[in-house]
Amino acid sequence: MPRPRWSTVWITGASRGIGEALALELARRGCTVAISARSVEDLERLAQTVRSGPLPGRLQPYPLDVTDSDACEAAFRRIEAELGPIDLCILNAGSHQPVELDDFSPLPFESLLRLNVLGVVNGVAAVLPVWRRRRCGQLAIVASVAGYRGLPTATAYGASKAALINFAEALRLDLEGSGIVLNLINPGFVRTPLTDRNPFPMPFLLEPDDAARRILRGLERGGFEIAFPRRFVIWLKLLRLLPYRLYFPLVRRITRP
Ligand SMILES: NC(=O)c1ccc[n+]([C@@H]2O[C@H](COP(=O)([O-])OP(=O)(O)OC[C@H]3O[C@@H](n4cnc5c(N)ncnc54)[C@H](OP(=O)(O)O)[C@@H]3O)[C@@H](O)[C@H]2O)c1
Repeated sequence: MPRPRWSTVWITGASRGIGEALALELARRGCTVAISARSVEDLERLAQTVRSGPLPGRLQPYPLDVTDSDACEAAFRRIEAELGPIDLCILNAGSHQPVELDDFSPLPFESLLRLNVLGVVNGVAAVLPVWRRRRCGQLAIVASVAGYRGLPTATAYGASKAALINFAEALRLDLEGSGIVLNLINPGFVRTPLTDRNPFPMPFLLEPDDAARRILRGLERGGFEIAFPRRFVIWLKLLRLLPYRLYFPLVRRITRP
């Protein structure tokens, strides 16, 4: 087997869904992966699966709530002390909550912005000081194609992911010359416990292991944005160019139940 591109990787939101698939794919490639999420049992179960299986890599649980900035910093320090310097960090923890007009309240905005945006900011703040001194490291932020433009019932989720996209673009510029590589990951629909809750048909739905391979291929290539599946992304990027007078009726027609 060829030498893996990364030796030690940290993934947040790694107990299920896309994060779990990424951790398993990296273990398949022989990497040591620090896996974080809130649920200790889920992380232990996943680590045990790899321990007792044929994969050459290793998963090590570091339970963590990413909305706690001190806990993120402490986890980063512990991982580096126990596993060695992290060379890839994938900030993936996130959630979705549709907002219906009848239930409109600030609560889903507070929780999704805290998790999806501040959770990522806390991860960046944890790695940045050490990586800047070291002048290396690859940082990947998982946003979503849902951040490209406004979509029905996605006022909270879409706003959080649009904020992340803008955050990543700005950070990419600020990091120039620092030696740190920044990637923005914008997946389309992936079958996970998160999307299993969606009551509507999801176009171009991918399996998590397929998504994980696409993400890792993109991270190896090193371009800024990793967005997939390609045909869905092209459609969405074309929609991004439409003026509002065309965008709103078209999206209404496509998404009407
Ligand atoms: N699935 C899709 O179609 C899709 C599309 C575009 C973007 N995305 C993005 O991809 C990421 C992963 O999505 P997914 O579908 O794999 O979701 P998922 O199946 O619901 O998994 C979410 C992961 O995040 C963890 N998590 C949630 N809150 C956390 C917190 N406060 N601190 C630490 N970890 C936390 C969860 O574990 P615990 O609950 O144990 O903490 C779990 O491991 C999200 O950012 C999502 O927005 C998903």
